[in-house]
Amino acid sequence: MNMHEEVQKRRTFAIISHPDAGKTTMTEKLLLFGNLIRSAGTVKGKKSGKFATSDWMEIEKQRGISVTSSVMNFPYQGYQVNILDTPGHEDFSEDTYRTLTAVDSVVMIIDATKGIEAQTIKLFKVCKMRGIPIFTFINKLDREGREPLELLEEIEEVLDIETYPMSWPAGMGKRFLGTFDRHGKQFIQYNGNEDETYIPYDELDDPEYNELVSNPIYEAANDEFALVEEAGDEFSLDAVLSGEQTPVFFGSALAPFGVQNFFDTFISMAPEPAPRKATEGVISPDNPNFSGFIFKIQANMNPAHRDRVAFLRVCSGKFERGMSVKLARTGKPIKLAQSQQFVASDRDTVEEAYAGDIIGVYDPNAYQIGDTLVEGKSLFEYQELPQFPPEQFQRVTAKNVMKAKQFKKGIEQLVQEGAIQLYKHYRSESYILGAVGELQYEVFQYRMRNEYNVEVMLEPIGERVPRWLKSDQVDPSMYDERNMLVRDRSDNYVVLFKNEFSLNWFKDNHPDIELIDLFDVNQYDQKT
Ligand code: G4P
Repeated sequence: MNMHEEVQKRRTFAIISHPDAGKTTMTEKLLLFGNLIRSAGTVKGKKSGKFATSDWMEIEKQRGISVTSSVMNFPYQGYQVNILDTPGHEDFSEDTYRTLTAVDSVVMIIDATKGIEAQTIKLFKVCKMRGIPIFTFINKLDREGREPLELLEEIEEVLDIETYPMSWPAGMGKRFLGTFDRHGKQFIQYNGNEDETYIPYDELDDPEYNELVSNPIYEAANDEFALVEEAGDEFSLDAVLSGEQTPVFFGSALAPFGVQNFFDTFISMAPEPAPRKATEGVISPDNPNFSGFIFKIQANMNPAHRDRVAFLRVCSGKFERGMSVKLARTGKPIKLAQSQQFVASDRDTVEEAYAGDIIGVYDPNAYQIGDTLVEGKSLFEYQELPQFPPEQFQRVTAKNVMKAKQFKKGIEQLVQEGAIQLYKHYRSESYILGAVGELQYEVFQYRMRNEYNVEVMLEPIGERVPRWLKSDQVDPSMYDERNMLVRDRSDNYVVLFKNEFSLNWFKDNHPDIELIDLFDVNQYDQKT
C-alpha cells in the first residue's frame, strides 16, 4: 500500500460529551467492533451480531483501562481507526482541549434526557473555533427523553450549528420501536436484547411488517419525519466537513441500538487527515518527509523513573521506529528510538505510522507542547497550539523563601511544558496560575514537590472570566482586585473578571474597550 492509500484510510477522531452522557459506553462498543473484526473477520450482516459473553467480560476488564488510556486504534472495514480520549470528570484540563487539535473530526454524544450540558458546550466551542467536523449521536433512546425536534432546536440555538438528522426515532423508552435511517433508506427496528433488524423502505409494505407500520407510534413518527424531510435543511457534505452542519443520529450506546449504523455512516463520511498549515506553507499528509507535532506530554508520576511520554500526531510522511528527526524549535537532532502505540489496554511498540496516527515517543526532557518534529532539511513548524481560557485561578508562592530559585525554575519548566498557565499581576509581579480543571493544580503541586523539591502554597482567587486586552487599550487605573489586571506568558494584558456579571457591567460602561474571548472564533486572530 502506498503512502497516499495509507493516509486515505485513516480516521482520527475524538468523542466529546458531558460526563455520564455515554462516552465510555460508546467507546467500548466501538472497540468491540474493532476487536470482533480483528479476531473473527466478521463482516457486517443484516442484523448486528450477538456478542459472546466472553467478549463482553474482556471489555469489562478493559473498562478501567480504556477510560485512562489516551489513544485506541484498530482496523475496521478497511479503515484504520484512531480514537483519542478526551479526559472528562475531574480529569478535565487543558489536555482535553489540546486533544482536539490532533483530530480530524469529532463525535459529540448528547444524553437525550438532558440535552446540551456545560462541558459539551466548552468542547464544542474548541471544535467550532478550529472548524472540526462534528457528528452528533443522541444517546439513551431506550429511556424516556426529550422530544427529538426540541433536541435539534437546542443544538442549533445553543451551539449555533445547522443540524441534519441522519436518523429519526419512532418512540422512546419502553415505546421505542427503532429509527428511520435516512442515509441507508431503511427502518432499523429495535428488538431489544442487542438485536436490530434493517428493513429497506421499499420492503416496509410487506405484510410481515404490518404490525410495525400500523403502530400509532410508528405512524406519528413517520408523519413527523416526513415534515422534517420536507422543511429541514438539505444535507451538504461540504457543510459537514467545514463544521457548519452536524449530521445527527439517534440511538442507544448501552442497548446497543443504532451504534453500528451510526459508526458505518460516520466512518464513510468523516474526513481523512487533511493538509496542515505550517511556517513553510501548507504541508500535505502525502509529503514524503515525516513530520508531526506534540499535543500532550504525560509525565510518569513515579518519581523513580521520571520518564515522560510525548504524544505526537503524525502529519506527513512515514514514521519508522529509530528514525532520526529534528526538533524544529531548536534544530537539534533526535532519534525516535522508543515509540509506542496505544491499543486499548496495551502499549505496543510501533514500527511505522502515517499521517493521522498518534504515537507516544519517549521525551528526553526536550519537548514542549506544540513542538514540531521533522525529517529532512527544512525545519518548518506547525501552527502554534492555541492558548485555552482557564477558568480557575490561584496565587502561588513558595513555602520556603530560600527556595525562590528552584521555585522559579520549576514553574517556568512546567509552564513551558503546558502543565499549567502562568500569569503575573501587572504591578506586584506576583504569580497567578490559571487552569481549566482542578487536576492541573494537583499535578502542579505534586511535580513541584517531587521534581523540584519545592513546597508551594496555593491561594484560590476563585473562578474568573479572563478577557484579553488590545495592547493600545490598557489603562491600569480601570482595574482592581475585583477585575484584576495581569499579564500572560507572552506579556499580553488580561483582565480576570470576578464573574460574568462584572464582565457585563464593564462592557456596558466601557463599550469602546475591546475584550477578547479566546473562545471567540472571529476575535481569535486579532489578539495582539
Ligand atoms: P461517560 O463516559 O460519558 O461519563 O458515560 P458512561 O458511558 O460511563 O455512561 C454513564 C451512565 O449512563 C452509565 O450508567 C451507563 O451505563 C449509562 N448509559 C450509557 N449509555 C446508555 C444508554 O444508551 N441507555 C441507558 N439507559 N443508559 C446508558 P451508570 O449506572 O452510571 O454506570 P454503570 O454502572 O452502568 O457502568
